[in-house]
Amino acid sequence: MKNQITPQPFVKWVGGKRSLINELIKRLPKNFNSYYEPFIGGGALFFSLCNKLEKAILIDKNLELVITYNAIKKQPKKLIERLKQHARNHSETHYYFVRQNKPTSPLDIAARFLYLNKTCFNGLYRVNKSGGFNVPIGKYSNPNIVQESNILACHKALDVAEIKYGDFSHVEPQKQDFAYFDPPYHPTSEASFTAYTKDNFMESDQIRLRDYIVKLHRKGVYIMLSNSSTEFIRDLYKAKYFNHHEVFAPRYINCKPGERGKVSELLITNY
Ligand SMILES: C[S@@+](CC[C@H](N)C(=O)[O-])C[C@H]1O[C@@H](n2cnc3c(N)ncnc32)[C@H](O)[C@@H]1O
Repeated sequence: MKNQITPQPFVKWVGGKRSLINELIKRLPKNFNSYYEPFIGGGALFFSLCNKLEKAILIDKNLELVITYNAIKKQPKKLIERLKQHARNHSETHYYFVRQNKPTSPLDIAARFLYLNKTCFNGLYRVNKSGGFNVPIGKYSNPNIVQESNILACHKALDVAEIKYGDFSHVEPQKQDFAYFDPPYHPTSEASFTAYTKDNFMESDQIRLRDYIVKLHRKGVYIMLSNSSTEFIRDLYKAKYFNHHEVFAPRYINCKPGERGKVSELLITNY
């Protein structure tokens, strides 16, 4: 048996599943072969399962996030050195200088990505039309920028993982593999936050995802999907072989303070 590790997601990520982990774990299939997570984000479910996985394929359309996963997998110590440098230099001037200037080497891109994530307002990731990160500095007196032991734990967890950049449809789970889908949610109101990348995830993408999931279902892949509990989503997954579970999760990113708090989300499984 492998040595047990307890990594936590190394980024703060909007829509992160930490608060729903127990609800997800309760509903996993009993046995499966490889693990697929095509909207990996902060990877809360992957990191909580990592001790049990033999093989994982992770994919996301946020290129800087994918570069960071790969840096943690391949060069964690060099990455930690660069983070220590950012931590020593941290100030408002340094933040805006780093935000303005995109490096070109993968290690520097990863260190910049983590530094901005740990020091920006609410750990948001938001880019303008040309892909420039535009979140202002957060109000932290002593942000925890390096998190060395967690990066090393994530490095170990990623030993079993292959991390790819691209659209969710660029992976091919096979019979008896398990795929967990946590796409940008269908908005419950116009103010909901769904702009994770330059390209918004539209209703046409939700339909494309459903069609892809139906194809995997026919192949014998175990599927679990998180989404908001809207009529549109319930209707997309109304086929008899989909089971709907309502779960409650705290959600904080919403422009209207009155709409913050516990909301019902949908978990859909085909087993
Ligand atoms: C709700 S978040 C996932 C949160 C994750 N489960 C966690 O625990 O942090 C959705 C993710 O989907 C990614 N994404 C958006 N459009 C995508 C696409 N077409 N294909 C793959 N990933 C996409 C975003 O970059 C974002 O990381």
